[in-house]
Amino acid sequence: MVIAAVFAGGIGSRMGNSDTPKQYLELGSKPVIIHTIEKFFVNDRIDEILVLCPQAWVAHTIDLIKKHLPDGKKISVIPGGSTRNGTLENAIAYINENCETDENTVIVTHDAVRPFVTHRIIEENVEAAIKYGACDTVIPATDTIVESESGKMITSIPDRKKMFQGQTPQSFRLKELERVLSSLTENEKAILTDACKIFSIKNKDVYMVEGEVFNIKITYPYDMKVARTLLKGKDSDD
Ligand code: CTP
Repeated sequence: MVIAAVFAGGIGSRMGNSDTPKQYLELGSKPVIIHTIEKFFVNDRIDEILVLCPQAWVAHTIDLIKKHLPDGKKISVIPGGSTRNGTLENAIAYINENCETDENTVIVTHDAVRPFVTHRIIEENVEAAIKYGACDTVIPATDTIVESESGKMITSIPDRKKMFQGQTPQSFRLKELERVLSSLTENEKAILTDACKIFSIKNKDVYMVEGEVFNIKITYPYDMKVARTLLKGKDSDD
């Protein structure tokens, strides 16, 4: 079984002071979150969808799903956590309580604010999670990446050819993910905010699925403008 977990538990503070978290902003004819859920809804590899959003937005999210998506695939909506890792933990707990799981159960975790994920990316995530246990979606870094400990002076400049930018989905064999999470100390839990980083710190393989430059994360108001332009380009290509 393959379960998509759409992470919509954030409040979008970097978008500015809007009462509406960015995942609920309109992009073309529907909210960002609906574009994202749709990608998983129509993908044959995905059996069920779990949406994790702020507690106060659960009822609204259920209404949006009823309005925009037909019946056909099970979609559950539950509260996320106060951190992204908390949201991941809520997803795992819900799946364990409500789904039949075994060693082959795969969880495809994806940011609700990356509405341009493609079917190829989703399918390669599922394949890689089954084969390797964990995968991340990345694109080669185009700019040189500069490391700085102080934020003022450069500490090092790694070889750009070895640098990639992380996107989502990040996908895992559920049982493997649980084993790795349960091996963390409280200290490690506090500092490790990325599930793939948790794997790599524990010396577990994380396969890299090739993402797309346009698989952007809507973070700042400018990204919303880019997303609207991307959507127009996509419509005219169809
Ligand atoms: N997310 C989540 N649960 C959290 C925090 C974030 O599910 N507790 C989700 C967001 O809703 C988003 C994705 O993780 O879809 C990527 O996070 P980010 O862009 O950082 O979203 P926000 O936390 O909402 O934004 P900001 O950091 O600007 O407040």
